[in-house]
Amino acid sequence: MASAAEGGLPHGFAPTLSHTRQWRPGVVQEVAPPGVLDLGPGYIEPALLPVRLVSDAYEKALAEYGAAALSYGHDPGALPLRATLAARATAADGHPCEPEQVLLTSGTSQGLYLLATSLAAPGDTVLTEELCYDLGQRIFRDCALRLRQVAMDASGMLPEALDHALTVGAEAGATTAFIYLTPTHHNPMGHTMPLARRRRLLEVAARHDVLIVEDDAYAELSLTPEHTSPPSLAALAGYRRVVRLCSFSKTLGPGLRLGWLLADREVTGRLSGHGLFVSGGSLNHTTSLAVSSLLDSGAYDRHLDAFREQLRIRRDVLAGALHAALGDRLALCTPHGGFFLWLRAEDRTGEGELLARAAGAGVRIAAGSRFGTPPQGAAVRLAFSFNPPELLEQAAERLATAWSGSRPVPEIGVRS
Ligand SMILES: Cc1ncc(COP(=O)(O)O)c(C=O)c1O
Repeated sequence: MASAAEGGLPHGFAPTLSHTRQWRPGVVQEVAPPGVLDLGPGYIEPALLPVRLVSDAYEKALAEYGAAALSYGHDPGALPLRATLAARATAADGHPCEPEQVLLTSGTSQGLYLLATSLAAPGDTVLTEELCYDLGQRIFRDCALRLRQVAMDASGMLPEALDHALTVGAEAGATTAFIYLTPTHHNPMGHTMPLARRRRLLEVAARHDVLIVEDDAYAELSLTPEHTSPPSLAALAGYRRVVRLCSFSKTLGPGLRLGWLLADREVTGRLSGHGLFVSGGSLNHTTSLAVSSLLDSGAYDRHLDAFREQLRIRRDVLAGALHAALGDRLALCTPHGGFFLWLRAEDRTGEGELLARAAGAGVRIAAGSRFGTPPQGAAVRLAFSFNPPELLEQAAERLATAWSGSRPVPEIGVRS
């Protein structure tokens, strides 16, 4: 494998065409202006998206299933993929999961929308951590759900705060539709919730008989070999009153729009009986058969190993460079997985100033306040997933210069 300093990529990741030509407005969701180093979105670096692997997988699926691959698919999703995903969940979490407990989605976003419209009614409350996936919050709000923040610390939601919020909500006559949590490789903070905290939150939710929605988009992206994430909340609860959402967006590519939901049979049965599935069949049938062939051949796991290694290099390069240059000014905790670093200003530098200085130096980052109320003051999120190591080093240099200067920058007119 080529070294990180060379910026080389192992076999399998080599791009076929220039990214600048392919990665263009009107085709992809966002393109940073020329010269700007984009550490804002939770995207995968173009060169790490497995174009050839996926192209071969479609070919294989069409050869194996022929016309059936282009037909309306089985409503909850093609059984071969659901059976494989159930077996993988069983192996990873040590708790049995059956194919009937798996429903294919067209990504976590669609899964969140499905739950927000099927298991909640307009006006219901969703309890979230003080910081969580901003666009998940947007989906809930767009479904006319009310969001209520519950206090958290560096391990996630506080059980006693959840207990209090549920008690007060019930007394006030509010209906809590569900509790939204991202226990593994949290977006934006990066932490993974320890086992004891998971159990306590499950106990509180069960006592109040409230559903938990577990957003596990980054579950397969553990980057520290000696650190193992605890079992999912869903498995710990025996899939009772927990719905877990997973996705191929952060491992194979978000353009596939393929994810899956794990729950008890009653919930998956109810959801797959929705007119959306009965009318259109499986939400992403052809793609699910292609991805199924990648899992069955072992190609997905080989890709994951190589991809995690590339992410680990990027995480360590960015965290190392920022720590060396700004360790005394910024609190930075290196996460065990996922895509993001979460940085807090140790001095009194405000969020607007951090962003403005970064933008002035040609680096795009995400405002902490986009995700809620940072409990410990001004903070920003930096994605290490979208740029090669040499550009991450450059970005860290630019940020170090921008954030070390003493000249204050006005906070007005700053956009994240
Ligand atoms: C926590 C979290 N959930 C869901 C999503 C969206 O996932 P998908 O592409 O599967 O809709 C993201 C993407 O950034 C995310 O960070």
